[in-house]
Amino acid sequence: MSHPAASVPAVTIRVPAKVNVQLAVGPPRADGYHDLANVFLAVGLQDRVTARPAPRLSITCAGPGSALVPLDGTNLAARAAELLAAHTGRERADVHLHIDKDIPVAGGMAGGSADGAAALLACAELWGTGTPREELLELAGRLGSDVPFAIVGGAALGLGRGELLTPLPVGGTFHWVFALADGGLSTPEVYRECDRLRGEDPAPAPEASPALLAALRDGDAYALAGALSNDLQPAAISLRPSLEDVLEAGSAAGALAGLVSGSGPTCAFLAPDAPTAARIATVLEGSGTCRAARATTSPAPGAGVLTISGA
Ligand code: C5P
Repeated sequence: MSHPAASVPAVTIRVPAKVNVQLAVGPPRADGYHDLANVFLAVGLQDRVTARPAPRLSITCAGPGSALVPLDGTNLAARAAELLAAHTGRERADVHLHIDKDIPVAGGMAGGSADGAAALLACAELWGTGTPREELLELAGRLGSDVPFAIVGGAALGLGRGELLTPLPVGGTFHWVFALADGGLSTPEVYRECDRLRGEDPAPAPEASPALLAALRDGDAYALAGALSNDLQPAAISLRPSLEDVLEAGSAAGALAGLVSGSGPTCAFLAPDAPTAARIATVLEGSGTCRAARATTSPAPGAGVLTISGA
């Protein structure tokens, strides 16, 4: 595709956050990761990543919590641009990436992974690499365990360290409220705490719950509420005991069920319908147990092009 000389091409990708409706964690592996049965559900909170040509790789970030986002080569969006440039034989990752953040930073909703996924797609589009989707998913898996799911979206079972995805059918819309925390939790620390709390007790091999998969397939919020589980929840609560208060506040406000999202500290609450979700969000915001509360729905689509300009 050719660009008019005067225009500056820009590609904006929107990318969803995720909640794990089941996170079954096996024993630690030799490579430091854990085998998982990880049921991902993409939700309506999203980041936007815009890629523009630039002399060298640079990143800016705006939005809540953006001060906590690294703007150097450790940012997954930067690593995605470098990886795609190397993979496609491009001399340099000559791109500026701007991240509009809405997904909580270090919140257990895969915000960093989402930005990595979005940057991969944005650079592929900007540079016209024509990289097949399967190859992008493979590169995404190298960037991080949660990155491929941000591309796929919807709902999926993640095996291995979470990156081996099988899409799952979802038979309806689920209503969620997310209680956002001040400050984040470190994912490696939460996994380490999980291992420490388990001590010598051997963790069983992780398996997806048939009841949970049926609830998703049927779009049955009540059945899903009964089947939610997160093996990292005790570890997140051990590191941040105040999460107990958040979970209690959400259940007192009328949630069908609540759980810590991924490695936390965001807490997720399932509601029977949109008006109840809005009420729960208002009550949670007034409870003083969280920084903010957001009502949204799932499933949401995976990363996709929002706008292309100057092309
Ligand atoms: O894959 P990702 O870089 O997102 O993982 C972050 C950290 O979370 C890993 O370094 C590891 O400590 C932990 N992790 C794990 N087992 C997984 C996924 C992540 O122990 N399956």
